[in-house]
Amino acid sequence: MDSAPDEYGVFGHPVGHSLSPFIHGLFARATGQHMVYRPYEVESQHLSARVAGFFARGGRGLNLTLPHKIAAVELAEQLTARAAHAQAVNTLLMKDDQLLGDNTDGAGLVRDLTGNLGLRLARRRVLILGAGGATRGILAPLLALEPALVVLANRTPERALALAAAFHELGPTQGVAFGDIEDAPFDVVINATSASLSGEVPPLPEAAVGAHTFCYDLAYGRSALGFVRWAQSRGAHALQGVGMLVEQAAESFRLWRGVRPATAEVLTALRARIGA
Ligand code: ATR
Repeated sequence: MDSAPDEYGVFGHPVGHSLSPFIHGLFARATGQHMVYRPYEVESQHLSARVAGFFARGGRGLNLTLPHKIAAVELAEQLTARAAHAQAVNTLLMKDDQLLGDNTDGAGLVRDLTGNLGLRLARRRVLILGAGGATRGILAPLLALEPALVVLANRTPERALALAAAFHELGPTQGVAFGDIEDAPFDVVINATSASLSGEVPPLPEAAVGAHTFCYDLAYGRSALGFVRWAQSRGAHALQGVGMLVEQAAESFRLWRGVRPATAEVLTALRARIGA
């Protein structure tokens, strides 16, 4: 092939830890797409100009990672419904000469839970720990699976109450303080706090997790195993969000290239790479 490859990338700060170039490199190879995907170190004050410059030079698509997901909402000329609900954008592409902002995080989580892990959420009781941006990003796709109830618990209860109210029309949501979480096992508990990153376990009642509870931490990596280890010690099945990471990438790749890459082998390769 002698034409230049189509250009994609991820903007972040810091971006050096991003696993997206590895994942998209494997997707491109497996699907035979003529493309490159690079990490770009971009500070917040330069985000707008760098995004404009990337697409002006013919770049085809971008991922946004920390700290740019919220700021990118303002840069997009159009938002998908799921990005509007999330109030965060992790994927940009040109569509009909307009910059379209999407958010594939929630879809990636749902695909990992229901597709890879075979979980059913319909009529189940779900507890989400945390009420920040990560929770906001996954709520709409989770509620679309019609759980019986989604309880949002947060260290700062007001944020949980506000988020529950904001999503109430999409399904049954309830915001509580950690101390007010019901003392009975939930079917699914998702840790969406950033506590794992500092090695902490959110202070939920022990009885909220039983042997039949499925626990999932959106964080991943050896240093973020606190919640997963704690849930396993309660006899629960618990996993880190490596599958979500691969599935959200596959969904971005599908938007850009019109091809959905297979994810199983990439997930295995990624687990080996990060020791998860
Ligand atoms: P993110 O985009 O990762 O969700 P965020 O919007 O800053 O980041 O939200 C971080 C979430 O983790 C919040 O729910 C935060 O609780 P507060 O709203 O009370 O700040 C939660 N969090 C962070 N550290 C925590 C800890 N040590 N224990 C419990 N919750 C924690």
